[in-house]
Amino acid sequence: MSGVKSGHIAVIGLGPGGAHQVTPEASTAVAGAKWFYGYGPYVDRLELRPDQVKVGSDNREEISRAKAALEKAALGERVAVVSGGDPGVFAMAAAVCEAIEAGPKEWRDIELSVVPGVTAMLAVAARTGAPLGHDFCAISLSDNLKPWETIEKRLDAAASAGFVIALYNPISKARPWQLGRAFDLLRSRLPAATPVIFGRAAGRPDERIEVTPLGQADAGQADMATCVIIGSAETRIIERGEKPALVYTPRFSNPGPEAST
Ligand SMILES: C[S@@+](CC[C@H](N)C(=O)[O-])C[C@H]1O[C@@H](n2cnc3c(N)ncnc32)[C@H](O)[C@@H]1O
Repeated sequence: MSGVKSGHIAVIGLGPGGAHQVTPEASTAVAGAKWFYGYGPYVDRLELRPDQVKVGSDNREEISRAKAALEKAALGERVAVVSGGDPGVFAMAAAVCEAIEAGPKEWRDIELSVVPGVTAMLAVAARTGAPLGHDFCAISLSDNLKPWETIEKRLDAAASAGFVIALYNPISKARPWQLGRAFDLLRSRLPAATPVIFGRAAGRPDERIEVTPLGQADAGQADMATCVIIGSAETRIIERGEKPALVYTPRFSNPGPEAST
């Protein structure tokens, strides 16, 4: 017999910021939960009913937050853990899985659903055209949970292999130099004209999108609300006069368009 009552935990992605970018599935999951665990600003985005309870916590407390949510669900409660963007991309879905793996056996009996959301790189890419139109990867530049040497190796391998790279967690007060170092490394692998997109606060009122050639990209153009997309050698810019330029990566690789439509 399981020691867990019929609790449920939903790990929900709230999208990049705008209420219009929350999926109907995420809204339904929010309506179905009572207890809401998450980083304070994400929990504060929710407009909850009087019977629903917010339990906000600090940015770096992912594992203790996941444990607290699982403890509550194990009591038979309907619990939500919320993330910005998609909960499976550098966010709470992995923290909840880590807590389940390391936690009491009973936690494996808790009903779990992961509700996807629009992740930052997709929201930023959509603002500029189709920079992720061909092979790409996502790398978190945070060296809080992995060594910097690993990040450099991955940047080097990704750029050398022709991937477009979406950088999450590019810079913060505690990590001021990493993005500049990443640009230096990438400049030794990619042409100076490679487009770099600084997509800040995509989907929010304070959104700002800038496109800069890699040769001139400056870490000061990013903050912790920015997703940086670095093109591959094949990423192009289409100038359109008064209209913003389009940045896109064609679906075919050089030497030419062999693909059918
Ligand atoms: C801990 S990660 C969480 C990512 C999130 N789960 C997602 O799928 O977008 C935080 C990083 O996501 C990026 N980010 C989150 N929201 C963003 C937005 N609205 N616009 C641009 N970048 C964003 C930034 O790089 C930020 O440092």
